[in-house]
Amino acid sequence: MLSSVVSKQLTKSIASSTLKMASCHFSKIFVKGLDGKKHEVEFEEGDTLYEAAEENGIKQIMGVCGGTMSCTRCQVYVGENKGKFAEPEEDELDGLERAFKRQDDSRLACALELTEEHDGVTLIQAPRKN
Ligand code: FES
Repeated sequence: MLSSVVSKQLTKSIASSTLKMASCHFSKIFVKGLDGKKHEVEFEEGDTLYEAAEENGIKQIMGVCGGTMSCTRCQVYVGENKGKFAEPEEDELDGLERAFKRQDDSRLACALELTEEHDGVTLIQAPRKN
């Protein structure tokens, strides 16, 4: 009797885990680093580029402010993909004011929210002061 209950619980638990794994979908975005390499960053819908890069151990766009849009070290150039991202809000624009070698297509990775539309997109790491 007890083994039957445990068996049912185990089956239910495995089925639930399998379902969660099946619904978890990762997309990929790429960051061309100053090192000349193209770094792959897996992300889930709703992650910021900064969060996804941190999860993937991509140091090229890691900042020192913890993703609060104040250090600007996570600056990337979005290039032709500019229209695929929501317009920057006030906090990001304030941060970008201080960004080194800012361009028209500059964005802060800690402000860039990713969606499936960004799957396969390549961004470029901006130069840093130090
Ligand atoms: S991590 Fe510091 S501004 Fe984005």
